[in-house]
Amino acid sequence: MDVLELIKKRRSCRSYKPDPVPSDVVEEIIEAGIWAPSAMNRQDWKFVVLDDREKVRQAAGSALKLVKKNLPSYTPRDLPDPIFYSAPVVIMITMPEENTWAASDSALAAENMMLYSRAQGIGSCFIGLAKFLNDNQHMLKKIGVPERYRIYATLVFGYPKEWPKQVERKEPGEYTI
Ligand SMILES: Cc1cc2nc3c(=O)[nH]c(=O)nc-3n(C[C@H](O)[C@H](O)[C@H](O)COP(=O)(O)O)c2cc1C
Repeated sequence: MDVLELIKKRRSCRSYKPDPVPSDVVEEIIEAGIWAPSAMNRQDWKFVVLDDREKVRQAAGSALKLVKKNLPSYTPRDLPDPIFYSAPVVIMITMPEENTWAASDSALAAENMMLYSRAQGIGSCFIGLAKFLNDNQHMLKKIGVPERYRIYATLVFGYPKEWPKQVERKEPGEYTI
């Protein structure tokens, strides 16, 4: 697959088989993340890998409560886990809260990880809603987020039940001035 084809084939997956992602592949996904550019090459990230079903369930429950509180118009998808989609692996990219570039660095690492995982036949989805977990210090501690770090990007990974259909994008010319 050439790079543009890979970029176009990455889709946000919201339905996963329960099969675990092998730990060496998880490590490679993180390796893809850390080869992203970071401001001043500080590489300030810590990747929190959650594959313990019970911890994921608790984090999803807490996130859902906080999302409902912060976004009153949010209607969860009618799924057993509308936050992490019952994916076997959740990876949170966390950074020190004082790093000015945390959001950019995390997003760049996240896209590398999603593209690499797609190339391995593994689906992914960026879970922006998980950022509300930053309001629950107790949960951050429980899932292993280091003190004074915050979640800037959360990704789920797993083998998709099926690959989602291509979603629409306009032609580049329509966005070009
Ligand atoms: C910053 C950001 C936050 C997102 N948050 C969520 C989320 O919380 N839950 C979800 O299901 N998808 C989330 N997505 C995925 C988008 O809905 C998805 O990328 C978009 O619909 C385009 O589809 P595609 O990724 O298949 O191209 C998020 C994407 C981004 C970039």
